[in-house]
Amino acid sequence: MATSQPVRAQISGIEDYFPARIVTNQELSKLVDTNDQWIVERTGIRERRLSEAHETPAYMGVQAAKKLFDRLNIKPEEIDLVICATITPDYTFPATACLIQNEIGAKNAFAFDINAACSGFIYGLETAAAFIQSGRAKKILLVAAEKMSSILDFKDRTTCILFGDGGSASLIEEAEGERGIIDSLMKSDGSGAESLYAPSGGSRSPASAETVERREHYARQDGRIVFKRAVTDMADISAEILKKNGLTQSDIKLFIPHQANIRIIEAARERLGLPIEKVAINLDRFGNTTAATIPTALLDAERKGQVKKGDLILLASFGAGFTWGATLLRF
Ligand code: ACO
Repeated sequence: MATSQPVRAQISGIEDYFPARIVTNQELSKLVDTNDQWIVERTGIRERRLSEAHETPAYMGVQAAKKLFDRLNIKPEEIDLVICATITPDYTFPATACLIQNEIGAKNAFAFDINAACSGFIYGLETAAAFIQSGRAKKILLVAAEKMSSILDFKDRTTCILFGDGGSASLIEEAEGERGIIDSLMKSDGSGAESLYAPSGGSRSPASAETVERREHYARQDGRIVFKRAVTDMADISAEILKKNGLTQSDIKLFIPHQANIRIIEAARERLGLPIEKVAINLDRFGNTTAATIPTALLDAERKGQVKKGDLILLASFGAGFTWGATLLRF
């Protein structure tokens, strides 16, 4: 009797949406005591996109989804699940995914959000893959979108220079042929929760005039702790997934790490033993868009011809939680 192959999931397509407004380092130096040279040398970021009021994660997700449906010739009614990875939801509740589901007319889909910060795409992809594998869903819209400017303190030079706004929409389906997700690893360490968080606005410290006065609704971090953990955890989980699958660095066509800081990427790349030509980078133009960095960097690499359908690629993330992960796939 022939043994059937386990069902795998693939990314059938990705589209992005970035606000039109480009904010340079020079512009930020009018708000805080910083300069272009410091930001470029310490982070690699030259500019980022910042949204207008109407450009929320739901809006960005809807715009990207519409482009994707047009390109792939998909009707919204065919979608059975909408997942939105974001830490800057339109509302505390309900889920941003429900807003997207309604706006695009995915009337046959159920919808929920994932809060895994910079690991949101990798966690969302693995969740979508599990629904494909179980047979519960056939076509899944995975949105990863952030309006980081809504939680940035533009008086804090150590955080406001790092992030940008942007979004993506991906279609996840059952894999065709050799394509699809080969393996995925996800890890969390909640002991790092307060190394990168917004202190108030949740039920532990509800919004009040005092919390606003203390600027506690903005993102705060211990940059050095985050930096060290991002380097070691992204490199080590990437090495682990390669070893587990009997692969080496030379088998990988492209490494798509979370885009937080060029020095984090450079140190992780070196620890992992990959040449720079095999690393996708778009943070110079977009900064850290949290859940949206990996899908937008992957799409950017595809547009530039750095990766094509069927290539073996490795995604890796590290973010608030702490959460981190790696996904190995044939694109
Ligand atoms: N402009 C000018 N000077 C600055 C700025 C700025 N924007 N920010 C900090 N400085 C100053 C500091 O005040 C400090 O001055 P001091 O020596 O007089 O005290 C000096 O620069 C050096 O500060 P460090 O914190 O040592 O600088 P470092 O090289 O560590 O860079 C940074 C700081 C960029 C935040 C780095 O730690 C980092 O990238 N950490 C990771 C944080 C991150 O990426 N978070 C995003 C979310 S998590 C993720 O995506 C992985």
